[in-house]
Amino acid sequence: MTGDDPDGARQLAAIASRYASLIEAIDNGSNGDAARRLMLIDEVRAALDRSLGQPLHGAEILANTLVVETVLAKGGFSEILLATHRDLGHRMVVKRLDATRRVEASARSLLLREARIHHACQGTGVLRTHITLRLATGDPAIVMEHASGGTLADRLQAGAAIAPWQARAWLTGLLEGLATIHACGFVHGDIAPANLLFQESDATSPVISDFGVALPVGARAEDVGVRRAGRTDYAPTRQMEGAPADPAFDLHAASMVAERIAARMDAVASDAGWARDIAHLLRSPGMTARDALKTCRERVPRD
Ligand SMILES: Nc1ncnc2c1ncn2[C@@H]1O[C@H](COP(=O)(O)OP(=O)(O)OP(=O)(O)O)[C@@H](O)[C@H]1O
Ligand SMILES: [Mg+2]
Repeated sequence: MTGDDPDGARQLAAIASRYASLIEAIDNGSNGDAARRLMLIDEVRAALDRSLGQPLHGAEILANTLVVETVLAKGGFSEILLATHRDLGHRMVVKRLDATRRVEASARSLLLREARIHHACQGTGVLRTHITLRLATGDPAIVMEHASGGTLADRLQAGAAIAPWQARAWLTGLLEGLATIHACGFVHGDIAPANLLFQESDATSPVISDFGVALPVGARAEDVGVRRAGRTDYAPTRQMEGAPADPAFDLHAASMVAERIAARMDAVASDAGWARDIAHLLRSPGMTARDALKTCRERVPRD
């Protein structure tokens, strides 16, 4: 619509006049009550969003509630989005299928399975979930808390020295999460630094996330269509061979995490003895997350 387009100019004038009438109607309707005025404006905004199917400013809105800010990560078949709740202003994270990667039909049921287990394992040391949405496409989307402090993988990569008290806080958080998950009857199956998240940048203990390959104790990955049995560097051979899920799989992976922490401590000439002792303890026969946690709490390292 340019200056020499008389039809365009007439349409613009008509829109401007109707817009002025709309604002007048809102002002009359709110009778000087600021809160009511905001509510009416929001109603109008929501009606426009509904009629367009898309938000006005181009951002994607999920379930008419969550404004997508950015893509935080892309996984095997999913993507992790940072979103803000339109009314509450809270930041949240959404895990949904990555539509750009021709997701196969079974991916939908796998993500729903992951959601069910993650919701069932809520408690100390586990990343909080809020809800699982059914999007307009019919796909599920897990809405969870935003852990803004990064992953343990990030902290292990950073050059800073690791003090024994930090190693202890990291492993205590991990074991608290495992004790919660095992008490709920599940095996996480993918314990690794990239799946241990810090809720805030100054948080000292991580929480466990990513229940993509989790299984009820005793179940087999192949029986429930889970894509892979575990992660090569962390899972024990039995798990990689598809044995029924055993909480000991997670303790083995936790001991590999403790070894990685100890190796980083060696590199910066910190006393790695404590982390190495815990790694060893975690591999001892019959060990449980609860017992290892007790030892972690009782045995204080020399800083
Ligand atoms: N709630 C969250 N808050 C902040 N960052 C997150 C959150 N959830 C996931 N992330 C980031 O996204 C990355 C990938 O997430 P996640 O581990 O759940 O998916 P994934 O590894 O792709 O899973 P899979 O490979 O099983 O599909 C994490 O390592 C982390 O960096
Ligand atoms: Mg992961």
